[in-house]
Amino acid sequence: MKILGIETSCDETAAAVVEDGVSILSNPLASQVEIHARYGGIVPEVASRQHLLAIIPILEQAMAEAKVTWSDLSGIAVTIGPGLAGSLLVGVNVAKAIALAHTLPLIGVNHLEGHIYANWLIEPSPDSTTPLFPLVCLIVSGGHSDLVLMKGHGDYTLLGRTRDDAAGEAFDKAARILDLGYPGGPAIERAAESGTVSIQLPQAWLKGTNDFSFSGIKTALLRLVEAGKVSNQADAAASFQEAVVDVLVAKTVAAAREHRVKQVLLAGGVAANGRLRQKLIDGSPLPVLIPPLKLCTDNAAMIAACGYFRFQAGKIDGLDLDVLPGLKLG
Ligand code: KG4
Ligand code: ZN
Repeated sequence: MKILGIETSCDETAAAVVEDGVSILSNPLASQVEIHARYGGIVPEVASRQHLLAIIPILEQAMAEAKVTWSDLSGIAVTIGPGLAGSLLVGVNVAKAIALAHTLPLIGVNHLEGHIYANWLIEPSPDSTTPLFPLVCLIVSGGHSDLVLMKGHGDYTLLGRTRDDAAGEAFDKAARILDLGYPGGPAIERAAESGTVSIQLPQAWLKGTNDFSFSGIKTALLRLVEAGKVSNQADAAASFQEAVVDVLVAKTVAAAREHRVKQVLLAGGVAANGRLRQKLIDGSPLPVLIPPLKLCTDNAAMIAACGYFRFQAGKIDGLDLDVLPGLKLG
């Protein structure tokens, strides 16, 4: 069963065709990162205009690379939120037009749920690495840091979340403070490679909860820079990365233990961070699944995969489907 996925929640215009929720037939995307880099962050109005320009060529590319026609598809999955309202509207309206024109089922997908389903985009094999329930998933992106317990497909219990900045947002702000450029996560990771963890930064453990807080680390870094106490950018980047990763890993492992799950999953743009990937694998007594790098950041294959499992559960939407910019998980 082939599902077309469409993703326009933020600054990537993406379309993909995925078979049976696991096999990627195509997954092209048009990134706006260079346009927004000029402003040091995403400009919502610019983002929606870029989506309008890119969506049709990207759709055509996704269909051509997958060698499919509309009649080969079983449904259209599209991100409805969370994200930028103007950006989401582009994807949702295109998806509705296709669904109407070709009488195809429409499946609205939560972007965060999509990130989790990037973990299903692995070819099944005899020693299948398909996720096993119950599991705990840490979703860390530019807008969210959520710890979720999943007992089955579409069954989410939110265990914890950030009380202020999301992990990716903290990386982006720290990179700005250290003048390392945008997007901040990859910039911090690159700088950290030649640095040593030598600066003490305050970590918020929020004991007794599964919640996170990253604004204190960021502010402490800012104060040190303002006071002229940071002489080596690489050391500061390494120290910041370590402080954030440390908390993410410890809290995820503690939640997995508490809920006696079978596996730990990592998802979202920050899951591309090498130090986080390694520390979670090293620190978890349970098997850890992490999507390949290019499936951690925003893409449409993860939306198509999630759409497939929703479709299987009979969760189909009507043409009155609307965007939900503040949509949450669980
Ligand atoms: O999931 P995503 O692509 O978009 C959202 O849904 O937000 O995540 C983007 C976030 C950005 O904050 C970016 O700085 C961060 O993921 N990110 C990273 C890395 N690659 C992307 N953070 C740390 N290390 C990375 N290698
Ligand atoms: Zn995302």
